[in-house]
Amino acid sequence: MTVLVPTMGALHKGHQALIKRARSLSKEVVVSIFINPLQFENKDDLEKYPRSPEKDIQLATLAGATEIWLPEYEEIYPGDISKLSAGPLGQIFEGKSRPEHFDGVVTVVNRLFEIVKPTTAVFGEKDFQQLAIIKAMKSKVEIIGVPTVREFDGLALSSRNIRLTEQGRVSANVIHRALAAAHLAPTVAIAQEIIDTTLATEPAFKCDYAAIIDENTFEFANETTKHKRAIIAGWIDGIRLIDNMRMGEGR
Ligand code: PAF
Repeated sequence: MTVLVPTMGALHKGHQALIKRARSLSKEVVVSIFINPLQFENKDDLEKYPRSPEKDIQLATLAGATEIWLPEYEEIYPGDISKLSAGPLGQIFEGKSRPEHFDGVVTVVNRLFEIVKPTTAVFGEKDFQQLAIIKAMKSKVEIIGVPTVREFDGLALSSRNIRLTEQGRVSANVIHRALAAAHLAPTVAIAQEIIDTTLATEPAFKCDYAAIIDENTFEFANETTKHKRAIIAGWIDGIRLIDNMRMGEGR
């Protein structure tokens, strides 16, 4: 049984949690490190994406990776690229702000699966919409989601966090504050109001969306929705940050 942990490098404790989970399932854990240009709609974001291959190899090995694979572009995309579509779920929320992002994600994930042929693959819940889209690919690979790892103040670990200024890093915890404050609210409307008012307390946070959705369909939640999840995205210092939390269940 081979378990694949696809990454774009700049590994942190969140990735290590994915690798540890993979290792709990199998003695064969492949960690791929490939910055996929197809999923970056913004050239600047691609250029500035942090790169730390030596540290990545150390962190992946310490977490239990048995193979660390850093493919070249040509290995992933030999010849013409036939881009896959992420479907309607790829067009909303993250997909609306980042056109073609999810098409790029499903294309690379499909290639990684074709090459590695894993039985199982592990992804983080921080990218909750990505996880849902990959599950919807309906490949033969079993997809496992792993809960988000957070900093001491609740900020979700992300490779982009190191690009925040000192002040931006402090401001960034408003996202988790909003989620945590709302997660036990008695109604969807009250939860939404708590999120909106909490986010508004931090002028440095430029909100893109903050919504409470049905976590299976990504439609806006109402009182009858069984599994509700709040999803938030925005920018601090021009750096995009996203996070989410199951409503009724704080972390
Ligand atoms: O979540 C990521 O790091 C990337 O989107 C993934 C899944 C490795 C595909 O490039």
